Amino acid sequence: MPKLWGGRFTKSASKLMEEFNDSLSFDKRLWKEEIQASLAYSVALTKAGIFSKLESPKIKSAFRDIEREFESKKFKFKPEDEDIHTAIERRLVEKVGEIGKKIHTGRSRNEQVVTDERIFLKRTNLEIEDLVSDLQKSVRDLAEKTVNDIVPSYTHLQQAQLVRLGHYFMSLFFMLENDRQRFDDLQKRIDVLPLGSGAVAGSTLKLDRNTLKHELGFNELSPNSIAAVSDRDFINEFLFDAAQTLIHLSRFAEDLIMWSSTEFGFVELDDLYSTGSSMMPQKKNPDSLELIRGKVSRTIANLNSLLILQKGLPLTYSKDLQEDKEPLFDSVDTLTSALKVFTGVISTLEIRRRNLMRNVDDSIYATDVADYLVERGVPFRNAHRIVGKLVLTGIDNGKRIRDFSISELKKISKYFDHEYYRVFDPVRSVERHDVYGGTSLKRVNEQIKLANNLLVKGRLQNR
Ligand code: ARG
Repeated sequence: MPKLWGGRFTKSASKLMEEFNDSLSFDKRLWKEEIQASLAYSVALTKAGIFSKLESPKIKSAFRDIEREFESKKFKFKPEDEDIHTAIERRLVEKVGEIGKKIHTGRSRNEQVVTDERIFLKRTNLEIEDLVSDLQKSVRDLAEKTVNDIVPSYTHLQQAQLVRLGHYFMSLFFMLENDRQRFDDLQKRIDVLPLGSGAVAGSTLKLDRNTLKHELGFNELSPNSIAAVSDRDFINEFLFDAAQTLIHLSRFAEDLIMWSSTEFGFVELDDLYSTGSSMMPQKKNPDSLELIRGKVSRTIANLNSLLILQKGLPLTYSKDLQEDKEPLFDSVDTLTSALKVFTGVISTLEIRRRNLMRNVDDSIYATDVADYLVERGVPFRNAHRIVGKLVLTGIDNGKRIRDFSISELKKISKYFDHEYYRVFDPVRSVERHDVYGGTSLKRVNEQIKLANNLLVKGRLQNR
């Protein structure tokens, strides 16, 4: 069989070129979208008088048959099919004969491919948003369970200040909330139908684009045919949102990997999400989290790849744009599995409570001591210096700062008194951070309440 576009050619492309030009190996994933769009197009063509009232049902039922062939995995591709668009058109003609050849009237693959991509991403984007919500729920549950546990927080990977563990987990919730909102907001920019744009200049038929919009359930019609066939900004944006979500996950994956080490021992991953070593029998490795950390790189690469692809690309469609699909699919698949795995890890995570404070150095209370001096009228900068000296003296003498006697303390500053020893209390320390967004019990519970409201509101915007 010759190519669908073979008329202008006297010989066929080389085998090498055929293979190089192939996109079927990856765009066959869009078969459902292609059939859906083609069916809608046939309805508009009927309205435009291209298909007669007799022909139209034949076309429709042929598309339904083709759909069933795909569903039952019986659809057979042929060597001349170069992409999913030509494959389905070829099959339509095989089924209905000459009339099938009318389906491409006024239509171009330039608009078909971007239409299919938009149909695909409209659905996928919301599926991913739901997966982010699922993870948020598990994170909220874990935060509720750990609101009374206290752990050291870190800056520069050095012990910084004590926080409620639930406060720590809520930080993941709110980072994910930004991610969720980004997917949600993107939806309106995906939900724009290009069909009717033709190759570049718009259709020459009396095509009712509103019919297409209605048939395909789109929110808007693309207002400019040139932009419609050229632009892939919605894919770039999705790829950024995907990479950003995974960047968030990777940071928490890294913390949990450290926290599951013998040295920290804060958490233990469930066997469901761990693997062993082929050689060292004692090992239980957090591979699930390592893979999440590792897989971020490909999603960043996918975003880069699309940005580079489009930089300086002349308008309108060029075959370069065929390269947009593999990175898109890869990020969709990577993010989908990473979100599911992370949700599994979080919902089965065991907290090893007795280890949480095991290695906390007394100097974690240094800021509390400085605040204590401030309450006694010492300007903060001076208090900072005094406590610095206290910590250093402790290091020099191998002594915890809470073990200094009053007379030793008085040598460092006259402002110290017996109340000093009450500072070294984890609950007191966290409860003092009672500002909106802080780590006191009231403030963490406030965050959980806000989270519950956000989870209820969720995706309403786009439903
Ligand atoms: N396989 C192509 C793609 O993925 C479809 C569009 C081809 N258009 C064209 N004018 N050759 O982009």
